[in-house]
Amino acid sequence: NYYAILMAGGVGSRFWPVSTQEFPKQFHDMLGTGDTLIQKTFHRLAKLIPQENIFILTNERYNDLVFEQLPSVTKRQVVLEPAMRNTAPCILYASLKIQKENPDAVMIVAPSDHWIEDETAFTNNVQQAFDFCSQNDALMTLGIQPTFPNTGYGYIEFDKTSAIDIKAVNQFREKPDYETAKEFIEKGNFLWNAGIFMWSVKSVVEAFQNNQPKLYELFKNGISVYNTDKEYDFIQENYPKAENISVDYAIMETSKNVYVIAAEFDWNDLGTWGSLYDKLDKDASGNAVVNSRTLTEDASGNMIRSKKDKIVVVDGLNDYIIVDKEDVLLIYPKSKEQDIKKVLQKVKNTF
Ligand code: GDD
Ligand code: MG
Repeated sequence: NYYAILMAGGVGSRFWPVSTQEFPKQFHDMLGTGDTLIQKTFHRLAKLIPQENIFILTNERYNDLVFEQLPSVTKRQVVLEPAMRNTAPCILYASLKIQKENPDAVMIVAPSDHWIEDETAFTNNVQQAFDFCSQNDALMTLGIQPTFPNTGYGYIEFDKTSAIDIKAVNQFREKPDYETAKEFIEKGNFLWNAGIFMWSVKSVVEAFQNNQPKLYELFKNGISVYNTDKEYDFIQENYPKAENISVDYAIMETSKNVYVIAAEFDWNDLGTWGSLYDKLDKDASGNAVVNSRTLTEDASGNMIRSKKDKIVVVDGLNDYIIVDKEDVLLIYPKSKEQDIKKVLQKVKNTF
């Protein structure tokens, strides 16, 4: 009865120029290991979930990329969105599909672009969660020990009195402001939301029904087990009408039956070049290098990437992102990595 929904519809704009709207980061080998992020995620999930029960949710423009990179998946497993509406609509869409196929399904919803090294610990945590949500009406998340007041994450206040590993959640708060995030961290009983969810299909559909009745009404009658022409037409017409809202705001903040399990593995959501730098091995002077052959002098803390085996020489430059692509060369301070989204916009407006 185990299923997975793999979310692969984001654009990853802070990883420009490697990640682009046509070819986003989940389809790239960001770590230089030979596998793309979506391939890594698929294989991680396949350790616990039958391959044929792993559904890929993505925008229709990435259809070909999915089949190229995951040749074993069938059409049934690829759920295509005609418009970008964030994670709530696509999760409800896929959940209704899975519910038709197997009303007893227990599932994990996972982003396709995270770094998780200890796959055994990951599998154990997910198995624990699956056992719990098979028995209980629960919306479960994986919690990460926070290290600083990051305002880009969701925060989970857990019940300190829970004796078991799985803790009831008092409050789920998506992307608080800096002051609030600081307060949360000082209190000590808050975790970051890893953005990985586990629940029975029954619980998640009910959560949408109760908290997002408009979205539920919009989708409830048009979705089938297999991708029929009728469903295609229905989705083309109705999906764009869905509200643009993430699953965090749509059901996690408003539901009472939220539970968290503290992750026993190292996690990184690979959101920026700097987070990638942190996870990669460094050369002797502390530069992280993907693909390039480098000669560095008086240069450290740089994130360097080029096409395979290109020679890159860096002298007198520290803590920069240096990314070389056929059509773009980016040399940008790591400290301003959050602004790459804006830079991309500027580039689009200028050229
Ligand atoms: N299929 C599909 N369609 N996938 C999407 C869409 C969409 O319209 N929008 C985003 N995704 C995918 C992204 O590719 C990513 O893998 C995942 O859904 C999460 O989206 P993000 O846009 O990266 O979310 P976030 O980082 O702002 O916040 C979420 O993740 C944090 C941890 O990384 C939240 O769940 C936070 O609470 C959490 O802390
Ligand atoms: Mg993210």
